[in-house]
Amino acid sequence: MLGIQQRIKKFAEEFNTYIADYFALPEGPEKRVAEAMAYSVTNGGKRLRPFLVAETSKLFDVKPEQYMRVGAALECLHSYSLIHDDLPAMDNDDLRRGKPTCHKQFDEATAILAGDGLLTYAFEILSHKKTSDDARIRCQLIQLLAQAAGAFNGMVAGQMLDLYAEREKPQNDQYDLIKNIEAMKTGRLLRFACEAGSVLGHASTEEHNALMIYARNVGMAFQIADDILDVVGNQELVGKKLHKDAEQDKLTFVGLCGLDEARGIAAKLVEDAKSALEIFGDKAQVLKDLAQYIVERDK
Ligand code: IPE
Ligand code: IPE
Ligand code: MG
Ligand code: MG
Ligand code: MG
Repeated sequence: MLGIQQRIKKFAEEFNTYIADYFALPEGPEKRVAEAMAYSVTNGGKRLRPFLVAETSKLFDVKPEQYMRVGAALECLHSYSLIHDDLPAMDNDDLRRGKPTCHKQFDEATAILAGDGLLTYAFEILSHKKTSDDARIRCQLIQLLAQAAGAFNGMVAGQMLDLYAEREKPQNDQYDLIKNIEAMKTGRLLRFACEAGSVLGHASTEEHNALMIYARNVGMAFQIADDILDVVGNQELVGKKLHKDAEQDKLTFVGLCGLDEARGIAAKLVEDAKSALEIFGDKAQVLKDLAQYIVERDK
């Protein structure tokens, strides 16, 4: 059996071949925006969100064509969030996935439009009949992704707090605030990945609830790992500029309680994520290994 890192690598290779087909470039000068979209989606990335859609789907024998489409939609939406996150008005970053950020490679206006294009494209991909024969399932996936990405407890809300949340609060309140920011800005898209597997697979309520507990814990652990890598990572591997969080006064567990305690919080989240999957038995081993990998990763 493949180890988790090889498994993710193999999936990423398949996914990269698969997603390229979604970016046939139009003729005419509007081609520029499609090029910027393709640049930002096909330029690597770990593909952990589509991998999560695939692995949760496999618990229920969902067809590859279905989970690959949902994974493609989610990766488009995720890539939009990265393009906008990197803009000068937000985190102002020059490097993403080891290459110039979209606004550096193209220009700011094109990057904003490429983000808009990827956000809407995600819903176009989901709405296609190939995602599911059942219109109710397609509609449910569209609703769940809109809620996960949106301004009402979704990713956009998390990004707003990340930029403007009040910094001067007592330690306990800050702890809750950071939990809330991380759950929304990062956790919600990861949760959607697991929700998608559950919806496509017609999971029972018990199975669905177990996956949601897994997703909540993994989502938080994932962002803590990102915040740790910002401090101790290797820029070559991580592919983005490091030491930005302290510089930009971001609210993170690393900033609030230091590296060791942040690592401890992440380790506990991973244990809780793994135990939530006990009801699936051996079938969920890859998801358990993924939870572990998420906090041990070096990129
Ligand atoms: C980066 O996500 C943004 C966060 C939510 C922390 P990833 O670490 O999954 O980035 P890619 O997709 O692999 O580039
Ligand atoms: C980004 O969080 C979360 C989203 C893009 C929604 P970060 O700002 O920490 O992500 P990186 O470190 O730039 O990838
Ligand atoms: Mg950010
Ligand atoms: Mg950022
Ligand atoms: Mg970060």
